[in-house]
Amino acid sequence: MSVADEIFAIYARRGSGAYFGEPVTMLDHGLQAAHFARIDGAAPALVAAALLHDIGHLIEDVPDDLADWISDARHEESGARWLGAHFGAPVSEPVRLHVPAKRYLCAVDRGYFGELSAASVVTLKLQGGRMSPAEIAAFEREPFHAEAVRVRRWDDRGKVAGLETRGLADYRGLIEMLARAPA
Ligand SMILES: [Fe+2]
Repeated sequence: MSVADEIFAIYARRGSGAYFGEPVTMLDHGLQAAHFARIDGAAPALVAAALLHDIGHLIEDVPDDLADWISDARHEESGARWLGAHFGAPVSEPVRLHVPAKRYLCAVDRGYFGELSAASVVTLKLQGGRMSPAEIAAFEREPFHAEAVRVRRWDDRGKVAGLETRGLADYRGLIEMLARAPA
């Protein structure tokens, strides 16, 4: 099975689930994040990162219950591991860092916290709250930290009920172009 086919199968199986506490499905959410990335002129790898940033939620069991959503704390790592097996660092690294990017923005951008959705405020606590100065410095040393911040902002915007976007199939060419040839 090609990487694109695998991704389509994952979203076909799980993508219609609700994105926790938001008025969109998991698939809509990824498509909307990619939509905003394209509008902002992001490079192809970063559009793919936006599209697939929550794939960790889909390759694990997504709990329906808020209490169980604590497993959210690590979805970025399982997602980045999966992506790292199929794509280069420009796709997987912004995904790995998109949750730390939220904690980072809460620390460095005064207005950011006020823009978070209610569900995102709840998960922020589970994710460790805003970064300390030492954590900020460490985050800024990550080669893909700026890209992760961009993915984070598209992630935050991708919660619009009924927004028209491209479909997942429209990203097949992009995914195939970026996927590593099998070893
Ligand atoms: Fe997300």
